[in-house]
Amino acid sequence: MNLARLGHTCVVGLHWGDEGKGKIVDLLTEHFDIVVRYNGGGNAGHTVLIGNEKFALHLLPVGVLSRDRTAVVGPGVAVDLGRMIEELDALAARGIVVGEHLRISDRAHVVMPYHKKQDMLSENALGAKKIGTTARGIGPCYADKMQRATAIRVADLLNENVLHEKITRIVERKNRIFAALYDDREPLDAEAIVAEYRGYAERLAGNVCDSTRFLLEAMDAGQRLLFEGANGTLLDIDHGTFPFVTSSTTSAIGVPAGAGVPPQTIQACVGVTKAYTTRVGAGPFPSELHNEIGQYIRDRGHEYGTTTGRPRRCGWFDAVAGRYSARLTGATVLAVMHLDTLSGLEQVGVCTGYRTPDGPLPGMVADAALLEQAEPVIEYLPGWPEDLREARSIEQLPSTTRRYLDRIEELMGVELAIVSVGPERTQTLMRK
Ligand code: IMP
Repeated sequence: MNLARLGHTCVVGLHWGDEGKGKIVDLLTEHFDIVVRYNGGGNAGHTVLIGNEKFALHLLPVGVLSRDRTAVVGPGVAVDLGRMIEELDALAARGIVVGEHLRISDRAHVVMPYHKKQDMLSENALGAKKIGTTARGIGPCYADKMQRATAIRVADLLNENVLHEKITRIVERKNRIFAALYDDREPLDAEAIVAEYRGYAERLAGNVCDSTRFLLEAMDAGQRLLFEGANGTLLDIDHGTFPFVTSSTTSAIGVPAGAGVPPQTIQACVGVTKAYTTRVGAGPFPSELHNEIGQYIRDRGHEYGTTTGRPRRCGWFDAVAGRYSARLTGATVLAVMHLDTLSGLEQVGVCTGYRTPDGPLPGMVADAALLEQAEPVIEYLPGWPEDLREARSIEQLPSTTRRYLDRIEELMGVELAIVSVGPERTQTLMRK
C-alpha cells in the first residue's frame, strides 16, 4: 500500500470496537494534513504506544499527538468538554501542547452531567436487559440532539444568555423526569452546571470554529483528510446489532454527515479488525469462546476496556460479521491487528457461518434475539507456536500464520494491506 498516494481516507473498525484503530490512525497521520473525528464521544478509547509512552485518548482525535497536524472534532461527535480538557491537560503534562491545532465544530452536541446521570439511571432500571453502556452519556446526548428542544450545541456555550436559559429550562425538566421515572431524589443544580460550562467555554473558545467550512476550504487548498472512526461498524445505530449498539453512525457511512463533507470525499477506507474478535457489553456474539481459549486470548491480548476497564468478551475471528461490515463500510483495504496474540494455540478458528435449530442464517440478520441463539460454524486451521513480535515483514511470518491471513483475506473479500504484531509502530507489517 502506498500511503503517500492515499486520497482522503477513513479508518473504521469492522467488529464491535477496540480493533486497534488508534494505532492505524497514528501510523497514517504523517501522510495526511488533518485528522477528523466524526462520531461517538467519550465512549471510545484509542490507545497508542509511541516509544515507551502510552497514550489513551477518548475524545481527542489521535491526530493531536502529531504536533504539526490539525485535529478536528466534527459536528457528529458528542463532546464531553470536561473530559476533553482533562485529556488536553494530561498531554500538556507530557510535553504535548495541542493549542490551536485542535478545532471543535460549533455544531457538535455537548454531553451534559444529566446525560451521564440518565445513562446510569436508565441502565440500572433495565436490570438484566441493560445494554452495558460505557456510562458516558452518549445515548441520552444523541437522544436530545434528535429531540432538538433539549439539546445544547457547542455554539450555545459561547452565548452566555442562551446557555443560561437553556440549562435552567432543561435541568428543571430533567430533574422532574428523573424523580418521576427513577424515583431520583438528588436534583441537579442548574446554576452550578452553568458556571461549570461557562468555564469550559472560556477555556476552549479559541478552538471552536465552523469546522465544516474549515474542512471544505482545506480540501480546496489540496489538503488531505484522515477520518478517524470510533467504536466499530457492528455498533452502528442503524446497521449494527441493535439494540446492543451505540447511538451514532460508526461506519464510514457516518463520515459525510458527522464530519461535514460531501459523500464522494472518501477515496479509501481502511477496515480494521483484530485477528480474533472481541466485544464489550451485552449483545449477540456468535463466535464467543466461553472457555480457556477465550481466557488465553484475553490475557495475552490484554483485553480489558480502555474506557471502562471491563474484561472484553473474546472469540474466534467472525468472518460473517466482518464481511458484512467491510461491504457496508466500503473497506478498500484490510488491517489485521493483534496477530501475535494468537501464538501458542494448537489450532485457530474462523467463524464462517451462523446456524440455529431452524437452519442456517443468511448472515448478519436484524433480529438480535435470533443472533443470540445462533451457533457459529467454525473452520479450524493449524495454529503456530512461534512468537511473531519480532517479524518485520509478512514474508517473515510462519507459513501457517500466512495461511491463516490468506483465509481471512479470502473470506472478507478485501485486500490485506497491514498486519500488526505488537503495540509499537515498528511492529507493523505492510504489504508492498
Ligand atoms: P454507549 O456507546 O456507551 O452507549 O455503549 C453502547 C454499547 O457500545 C456498549 O455495549 C458499549 O460497551 C459499546 N461501546 C461503545 N463504544 C465502544 C468502543 O469504543 N469500544 C467497544 N465497545 C464500545
